[in-house]
Amino acid sequence: MTLILAHRGYSAEYPENTMLAFREAAKAGADGLELDVQMTKDGELVVIHDEKVDRTTDGTGFVKDYQLKDLLKLDARFKFASLPNREPIPLLKEVLEWLAGTDLICNIELKNTLFMYEGMEEKVIEMVREFRLTDRIIISSFNHYSIVKSYMLAPEIEIAPLLSDGLYMPWIYAQSIRAKGFHPHWRAAQDEIVISSLDSGVEVRPYTVNKDNELERFFRVNCSAVITDDPVNARLIREKTKQA
Ligand code: G3P
Ligand code: CA
Repeated sequence: MTLILAHRGYSAEYPENTMLAFREAAKAGADGLELDVQMTKDGELVVIHDEKVDRTTDGTGFVKDYQLKDLLKLDARFKFASLPNREPIPLLKEVLEWLAGTDLICNIELKNTLFMYEGMEEKVIEMVREFRLTDRIIISSFNHYSIVKSYMLAPEIEIAPLLSDGLYMPWIYAQSIRAKGFHPHWRAAQDEIVISSLDSGVEVRPYTVNKDNELERFFRVNCSAVITDDPVNARLIREKTKQA
């Protein structure tokens, strides 16, 4: 069965990359989550998509220039201002602690392409091990040097390269870096690519699949997972596709 991974949590209906969005994704019946990790000035791992806090919070500036205590004062509700409670930027540790009490899988995306965030891989791995989540985590990144480093540090944790563009035989590339799967942009995951990858034993988890016809296409070819903003809609389409 194609798994449904909630992109930045249930981000279609809740503020992305917040505990609220993760809890709601679980309630909605998602099989797992996708989230993004950046690092503060004092070396703390936090869950936020952009290098800057401007788009998703009431603050300004780069995450890397904030001390954690100041970052935690920001409100990450942004466009969901009508929500009753303030939503802070979560610590990765907080999310993993909660995740340990669920049976969800989690794709941790290391956002270390613009800034390298020295020591990020070691810190993520230490935390994943601390919460005994090694078999439920997939570490991905557009920085493939970083995921190879992660694999060398912790071969027991799955890695997956993010691919924004089409690559010739991406399953061969994935295997060459010891990745059991890869995460392509949905446009770069034509049926033949998905089928050839699965035939070679390589998992494919395209992002960010929100259109009904694309969701249906991936369910029909038994793709490993889809990364989507709306796990509720994805579940409906998955159900319908099975019936068709
Ligand atoms: O992990 C898939 C997807 O999240 C990558 O793109 O920009 O949404 O982090 P982005
Ligand atoms: Ca992401």
